[in-house]
Amino acid sequence: MSVAKRWGPYTQMSSLATTGPIVIDRAEGIYVWDESGRRYLDAHAGLWLSNIGYGRSEIIQAVTQQAQKLSWFSSFGGFANRPSLMLAEKLVHLLEPDGMGSVFFSNDGSEAVETALKISRQFWKVRSRAQKYKLIGRQHAYHGVTFGALSVAGITANRQGFEPLLTGVLHAPAPYANHCAFHAAGTQCTLACAREVERIIQCEGPDSVAAFIAEPIQAAGGVIIPPPEYLRQVREICRRYEVLFIADEVVTGFGRLGDWTGSRHYGIQPDLMTFAKGITSGYLPLGATAVAPHVMEAFLQSSQDGPELRHGNTYSGHPLAAVAALANIAVIETEQLVSRAAKMGDYLHSQLDQIARQYPNLVVDANCVGLLGRVELFPSSDGPGKTAAAVAKHLLDHGIIVRPVGDVITLSPPLIIGESEIDTIVDTLASALTAQ
Ligand SMILES: Cc1ncc(COP(=O)(O)O)c(C=O)c1O
Repeated sequence: MSVAKRWGPYTQMSSLATTGPIVIDRAEGIYVWDESGRRYLDAHAGLWLSNIGYGRSEIIQAVTQQAQKLSWFSSFGGFANRPSLMLAEKLVHLLEPDGMGSVFFSNDGSEAVETALKISRQFWKVRSRAQKYKLIGRQHAYHGVTFGALSVAGITANRQGFEPLLTGVLHAPAPYANHCAFHAAGTQCTLACAREVERIIQCEGPDSVAAFIAEPIQAAGGVIIPPPEYLRQVREICRRYEVLFIADEVVTGFGRLGDWTGSRHYGIQPDLMTFAKGITSGYLPLGATAVAPHVMEAFLQSSQDGPELRHGNTYSGHPLAAVAALANIAVIETEQLVSRAAKMGDYLHSQLDQIARQYPNLVVDANCVGLLGRVELFPSSDGPGKTAAAVAKHLLDHGIIVRPVGDVITLSPPLIIGESEIDTIVDTLASALTAQ
């Protein structure tokens, strides 16, 4: 077997040995082209992130101009650069309804989560409650690849190769209506999964729990859409037991759900929020961890000598990433892509409803919130994930990129998508289902 020089992320390299990867060469709008000139409609926005679409000259110009002026300088100690200060200002303004007051920059979603977890642990130390260190994540959660992020994540297969992970991490059940451990299918939801968070806190002892982390919609777990009241109820539980609530908005932030954030969509104000992906629409890597004023104030009041938070990445507040984010946010605002995502989401929803009605023997559930969608299929007799993989392959062969996660086809197109392009995705999906 020939050994590839490039070891790809989350890639089965042995099966690529014969076929090789699909090499994407250029992209524009919602389309990407491979090196042979074949065009694909990207119904997944790359990896849930190309919110404004590809090839936008506004971003490229902003980054080029900034590169000519200052391509990078350290943000450690007393230094900063103007674009990162402007971005912090802009984000705090945007996130005011979510209750955020300050932002810490890193490079990607994993680092944004890692930062949030470290801030949460130290928050209780600076408040002289060092015994509050445990973290609660959820089953099926994806929070990234670093050890902290992986420890609170709940996709078992992703974790097993790297154990032992952090100690003091508990996992609550996901609010997964179709796979509910508490209620038989079709019976009334009583939010037992939310109360399970309370049970875990009580069982561990509230004085030992630092933070709870949740994606408003669990994207990589299979676009798990919670019951409307779930997040509000868990937020309330966390408040009652003095457990910090971290909303991981790496996918749900920046318009995907038809609101600026998933937290706002579900009517909660977290203590910390994490962002990446849609913050720059992928033009450059950037992570951000936003905190509520009371979190920052606790650090400022600490009597510790030197930096209050001994944490930072060489590229924290990278000026090129910061201008990319500012230009990206400007596009989202001027083109009103957040309300567009809500409107197109309604259209996608109506189309997915039809798919569910048309293929009752294949489809368990077809749903979306804004432009984050799922089509869950019954597992075939060949094993879990096989039908979804075949459907995704059919779509790819017909020029449409989606992402299968187990038995779920996940959808997350750029927010600039129009009705006719949604029709193309749904019609091709229907022909893929017919072919099963
Ligand atoms: C909700 C969530 N958090 C964190 C991450 C990690 O982000 P990154 O891959 O940029 O490190 C992801 C990645 O998909 C994610 O979906």
